Amino acid sequence: MDDANNEQKGMKMHPSILKVIEQKNAIREKLSTIKHKIGVYSAKGGVGKTTVAVNMAYALSSLGYKVGLLDADIDTPNITLFLGIEGPWDQHYPLKPAEKDGIKVISTAMFIDDARKPIIWRGPMIGKMVQEFLDSTEWGTLDYLILDLPPGSSDAPLSIIQLLDLDGFLLVTTPQHIAAINTIRSGMMAKRLGVSLLGVVENMSEGDARGAKEVAEVLQCELLGKIGANRKFAELSDAGKIPVIEDGAIREEFISIVKKITG
Ligand SMILES: Nc1ncnc2c1ncn2[C@@H]1O[C@H](COP(=O)(O)OP(=O)(O)OP(=O)(O)O)[C@@H](O)[C@H]1O
Ligand SMILES: [Mg+2]
Repeated sequence: MDDANNEQKGMKMHPSILKVIEQKNAIREKLSTIKHKIGVYSAKGGVGKTTVAVNMAYALSSLGYKVGLLDADIDTPNITLFLGIEGPWDQHYPLKPAEKDGIKVISTAMFIDDARKPIIWRGPMIGKMVQEFLDSTEWGTLDYLILDLPPGSSDAPLSIIQLLDLDGFLLVTTPQHIAAINTIRSGMMAKRLGVSLLGVVENMSEGDARGAKEVAEVLQCELLGKIGANRKFAELSDAGKIPVIEDGAIREEFISIVKKITG
């Protein structure tokens, strides 16, 4: 490994840097059967990251791709609720994803006996769990792994950026200026740490995509599309149903977005 080259050149790496490099190499090897890894992200809470991640996964699946969903919202996992799936789950090592409609899923929710129980962990535990999901999940072969990120720009987002070779982030914003500002923060973090931006989607859009335009202009990234504000999202997701499956207009919005990514 690189350490040998550096030692030949008279440089010695700090053991903690070496450890991160080793972890990253092990994860790269473990996930080598997955063609694309995309993080759905915004530093702003509640803009629809989980909604976009889940419906994007189903849109990709309907186009014939094999898809996995990794719930990187470690302390507030929502993916199993959005999918309407319940345990008991297989909790043995290595981790086996749950599956619904052919889409594979891993989430902290699969290791908690009651969804209402709070998960009260400090940052290092969150980072450790992200690492476990990345290096211990048996995904098999996948075309796309979609990661649903939590808001903020610390623990889980930082671990993912450090440990994983992402294709890039798909940013989600809503029309409001404050949501755009916070989404720009996530994009700037990604750029500073060398992660590509696949583009930005405006969710709960009222028509003109002003939030996404602001984000796209500042970050110089593609505006991938808009998803209209539609109360069917909450009604269907609360019932564990998938909007992209249940509603033709919503399906069209998501298919148009994922085609830009696959294309
Ligand atoms: N286009 C939309 N129109 C109306 N409601 C929506 C839309 N998209 C998402 N919602 C609803 O908004 C709420 C928040 O969505 P979601 O949980 O996906 O956001 P989030 O960004 O993942 O939140 P968090 O930051 O807590 O992870 C949910 O009740 C969801 O059903
Ligand atoms: Mg979420």
